[in-house]
Parts: sequence; structure tokens; C-alpha cells
Amino acid sequence: MEKKLIIAIDGYSSCGKSTFARAIAKELNYIFIDSGAMYRAVTLYCMRRGFVSEESIDRNGIISELNNMNIEFVYNPDIAEYETFLNSENVEQEIRGIEVSSNVSSISKIHEVRARMVELQRQIGVFKGIVMDGRDIGTVVFPDADLKIFMTASVEVRAKRRYDEMISKGIKANLEEVRKNIVVRDITDENRDISPLRRADDAIVLDNTRMTVAEQMAWVHDIIEKKINGR
Ligand code: DC
Repeated sequence: MEKKLIIAIDGYSSCGKSTFARAIAKELNYIFIDSGAMYRAVTLYCMRRGFVSEESIDRNGIISELNNMNIEFVYNPDIAEYETFLNSENVEQEIRGIEVSSNVSSISKIHEVRARMVELQRQIGVFKGIVMDGRDIGTVVFPDADLKIFMTASVEVRAKRRYDEMISKGIKANLEEVRKNIVVRDITDENRDISPLRRADDAIVLDNTRMTVAEQMAWVHDIIEKKINGR
């Protein structure tokens, strides 16, 4: 039987990690997990419950509710994609909006939130044959992943990609606002105390500033072949 891999894709926000990870999963017939969507869903839950305001975050409130947040990825055959569900509600649209994007870094800094998400992510990973994208997948969630890729691209290109994605999904967006949000998130993600964004020592760097998805797929193809066949 063909060897099933765990593939970890980490990197800066809006680098196209999910697009790349999803394409790899499709090609290999693997499960794709967008771990950022899990942090976004938790953030949405906290915002709705009033745990997040401009001035403060109710840490205790959030922690006490962690076990009441049921996050699932449900396949939508109409678009041939998985969508994020929070307590049985499709929240795929809402978690991509600017309000959730502006609060998600503060929520994902909370130790207990991360511990719970890592636990869920590892449960999903036990079956192997998965591609997971995020910030700490190769460093914390699956330190023994078979393949680790660390993605990066220029801030301008990332802002434009995220902006185009939002517009295409019918979400209101402003390019400069999106750019600022990315810069702030980079700083928060790299400087948080627990699981800061950093490249795992054994991760391969992919700078896709000037690469199409097809070029990225061509690049990763041989790397994956070698991992599967042990060459
Ligand atoms: O990949 P994304 O932009 O959708 O992620 C949203 C936020 O979630 C991002 O600001 C950092 C956080 N995140 C994290 O801390 N750890 C992960 N494994 C994935 C995302």
C-alpha cells in the first residue's frame, strides 16, 4: 500500500497556503485541513458571545466555553470544497470578513485556545493522508510531519491576493485596510509567546511572490514523489 503522508504547510497570512494545500490534497486524494479557519471560527464564537471588545478580551469567558465550540469541515458538492461549520452553522463567509480577521490574532494568542485546537488537529491527523496549513503545524502540531513547507511572499502580493479573494466571495474590502491588517497580523503572529510563527528547522521554504499555483504544484511534485517512494 502506498505510504500516506502528513504534510505541514506553514507561513505568513495570505500567502496562498490554503490554495496550495488544497491543491496538493486534491492531487493526492488527501484530507485538507485549514487550521486558520478553526481559529477564525473560535474568534467568531467569542465575538458573538461578547467576549471580545476594542478594550479587552474576556479570557475566562472564552476558556470556559471552549468545549462548547464544535468545529467541523463539511463537504459542499456544489463547489467541490469543504466549508467551515461552527455548531452546525455554515460560517465560511463570516469567518473570512475583516471583523474576524482583525480579532483572530488576539484570540489565537490564548494558551488554552491553542491547546484545544492542537488537540483537535492531532485527532484529525491520526489517520495520515492529510495536508494541514497554518502557523505552527510543522513546529508544534506535527513536529514529525513527513513533509514541511514554509511559505512566504511579499506583503503587496499577499494583500492583493486576499483582497481579490474577499471581493470574489462578495465580501466588502478595501485594499489598504487589508494590507494593514496583514502587516499587523505578521507582527502579532511572529511575536506571540506561545507557538510564534517560525520556520521549522527541517521545513523547505517556498517564496511564491512570482509563482502561479501550477508552478508551485510542479515544484512540489517531485518532492512528494520522493517522500512517498522513499527515494
Ligand atoms: O491562515 P489564516 O490567515 O486564515 O489564519 C487566521 C489566524 O489564525 C492568523 O492570524 C493566525 C492564526 N493561526 C494560528 O495562530 N495558528 C494556526 N495554526 C493557524 C492560524
